[in-house]
Amino acid sequence: MQPSEQYRGRLFVVEGIDGSGKSTQIDLLYKWLLSRGHAAFFSEWNSSPLVKRTTSRGKRRHLLQPLTFSLTHATDFADRTERSIIPPLQAGAAVLADRYVYTAFARDGARGCDPAWIRELYSFAVRPTVGFYFRVPLDVALDRILSGRPELKWYEAGMDLGLADDVVASFKLFQARILEEYERIVEEFGLTVIDGTLPIGVQQQQVREIVEPYLDGLLSRPDDGRIYRPLREGEA
Ligand SMILES: Nc1ncnc2c1ncn2[C@@H]1O[C@H](COP(=O)(O)OP(=O)(O)OP(=O)(O)O)[C@@H](O)[C@H]1O
Ligand SMILES: [Mg+2]
Repeated sequence: MQPSEQYRGRLFVVEGIDGSGKSTQIDLLYKWLLSRGHAAFFSEWNSSPLVKRTTSRGKRRHLLQPLTFSLTHATDFADRTERSIIPPLQAGAAVLADRYVYTAFARDGARGCDPAWIRELYSFAVRPTVGFYFRVPLDVALDRILSGRPELKWYEAGMDLGLADDVVASFKLFQARILEEYERIVEEFGLTVIDGTLPIGVQQQQVREIVEPYLDGLLSRPDDGRIYRPLREGEA
């Protein structure tokens, strides 16, 4: 991965299994950065318009194999790196990513792709300033996901792997595999671990304390006339 120090901006990413609280935490961080007057940009996994139609079609018709699944996501990531991650970093802004290369390492690894090959595929990525990993036991994450969103998607549940006939059973087995991969990745890449079972406000406080030393000299956000006040504990 290329070092982030070559850019004036800062890159903060969140990782963890489904339901670990990534989006909750990065949304709060984003609002906090804006409230402090910093220019902050957001990039979400699998959001590039370049491959959206191909990915959606492949997923809908269950056409994607582990290799093609991996390649479409890498294409998405390459496009976003070029268009929405590097330019704001060059300009000196904070860039926040909800899932990053480690998601590919964990998921594609769980699908049986060669770890060295996946890492090589993503070697163009910018190494994050801080990579957060929200560690939660499988049961906690499953409870959060299955209580709030019972409709699981085919690939999300890892149904392509033939682990189980039932979608929920497959999802649980697949998430367990991903969790195992993540635990290796945390060591390998020195991710910053946050206890994802703590209350939302407590975690956010820790995230802000870790991020704060990197904020000096960041680009200021343009004044859009809106007032961004800091969020209170538990507020989303
Ligand atoms: N610390 C927490 N304690 C209890 N519930 C939480 C906590 N953090 C998040 N949640 C709840 O768990 C659910 C999943 O959270 P969130 O969407 O942030 O997870 P995620 O990691 O982004 O999941 P996904 O990978 O599916 O996008 C939400 O309903 C959220 O309100
Ligand atoms: Mg999310």
